[in-house]
Amino acid sequence: MTTRQVTKTHLTSFPAPAQLATVTDLTPQEAQAVTEAVNPLIADAFALYVKTKNFHWHLAGSHFRDYHLLFDEQAEAILASIDIMAERLRRIGGTTIRSISHIGQLQTIADDNDDFVPAGEMVKRLVEDNGHIAKMLRKAIEVCDRHRDSATSNALQEILDETERRKWFLFEVMQGVKNTD
Ligand SMILES: [Fe+2]
Repeated sequence: MTTRQVTKTHLTSFPAPAQLATVTDLTPQEAQAVTEAVNPLIADAFALYVKTKNFHWHLAGSHFRDYHLLFDEQAEAILASIDIMAERLRRIGGTTIRSISHIGQLQTIADDNDDFVPAGEMVKRLVEDNGHIAKMLRKAIEVCDRHRDSATSNALQEILDETERRKWFLFEVMQGVKNTD
């Protein structure tokens, strides 16, 4: 394994190097606006994927099986959304996530490094994060619509629908959570 001595710390996603500048009928301004609206969503999807898996792995309590399975199902859907968003950006000549440190620069939801999180609190935190991401998605859809990128807008609309589905499930689960859970 080679060790790179210099890690690039400031990453830009637009304009792309010539070899990656996919031809598009969108103007550079339009493609840039969409790229800059969507990359933070991809970073957040990575962050939420890890957080949901973290909760899947570090769960305890009487609802273990239900929550363990629910979190896994949700993590899979979040993971699937990442490639869809990233490849939309490549289709319009934008570049996307390069690394874990790049994710760290762009994510807008907080990481969760607590030693122990009670199951009910996990559900609460995931409701909040999915809600935050839904809000971000809605804003990004507006950016796409304003900049003539209806294909990215459509992709984000589906991802918003899935995000709201996750939020709905978690919200209803939360109704049954007692302080002792
Ligand atoms: Fe698992």
